[in-house]
Amino acid sequence: MNAADTPPVAVVTGSSSGIGLATTAHLLQRGWRVVGLDLNPPSGDGSESPPPDLVRIRCDVGSPESVEAAFREIAGLHPRVDALICSAGILRIGALDAMAVAEFDLLFAVNTRGPWLCARAALPLLRAARAAGGTARIVFAGSISGLRPKVGSGAYAASKAALHTLTGVLAVELAPSGILVNAVAPGTVDTPMMEAVGADGGAGGGFRPSGASPLGRVAQPADVVGVIDFLLGPASGYVTGVVLPVDGGTRAAYSAAGSPPADDPRP
Ligand SMILES: NC(=O)c1ccc[n+]([C@@H]2O[C@H](COP(=O)([O-])OP(=O)(O)OC[C@H]3O[C@@H](n4cnc5c(N)ncnc54)[C@H](O)[C@@H]3O)[C@@H](O)[C@H]2O)c1
Repeated sequence: MNAADTPPVAVVTGSSSGIGLATTAHLLQRGWRVVGLDLNPPSGDGSESPPPDLVRIRCDVGSPESVEAAFREIAGLHPRVDALICSAGILRIGALDAMAVAEFDLLFAVNTRGPWLCARAALPLLRAARAAGGTARIVFAGSISGLRPKVGSGAYAASKAALHTLTGVLAVELAPSGILVNAVAPGTVDTPMMEAVGADGGAGGGFRPSGASPLGRVAQPADVVGVIDFLLGPASGYVTGVVLPVDGGTRAAYSAAGSPPADDPRP
């Protein structure tokens, strides 16, 4: 993975839950050193000490000051970063005419500005990885919502569509430096984020998660982690600027139907 003899280093945002937590565990298992950034600690009683190759730093990815402070700390720990995986994100559901301005702004602060701030702050360390002869990758967690928006999650979808746009432009801007930038766009994944939607009880302005895909099930975090792993590995060395759906064919089924499926609330 990297030219130096030391293990590769990844920074994972949203490392305390869901896809970020599963990515962190996967990378540690594969011999990476991981710095996990999250607003919150992982759930549990806090009695477990983190594995030796994991450092957790509290960080609000939507805050420039918080992100800069976190990356100053990371630079003190590691001379280079081989991969940045931005999984931190929030979902707010509700019809656009009822959404509060603060909620709208928060979605964009965390889901769009956050990955941009982290990528910008990580650049010197990613460039150092390249200078050492290693690879340097950025993977954002986009969403199928950004490709196929739905009633009841319009602001979330817009924040992810904007992130998809940043993915392509950043990929081109960073191409000369050899840093590859891609996004995964999951459909419904079985994580605490979706559990929270389920608990909403239908009060979300008509929003319904897509549910089981044509493959007959909802994704598990591991389904997304496998694709992130591909985007970090040698087999994807010629892949950049891509938004890769990981949705079990949900979007394709929607397109193939020619009109919204019966259970889709979109008019
Ligand atoms: N679960 C899904 O169905 C699904 C589908 C498509 C896209 N995604 C995207 O995948 C990513 C991961 O989602 P998940 O399902 O694992 O969610 P999750 O809620 O399980 O985990 C998100 C993590 O982000 C952290 N976080 C939230 N705001 C933060 C902030 N300001 N700064 C730092 N950390 C913050 C949370 O504390 C949490 O640990 C998100 O970007 C989400 O939008 C999820």
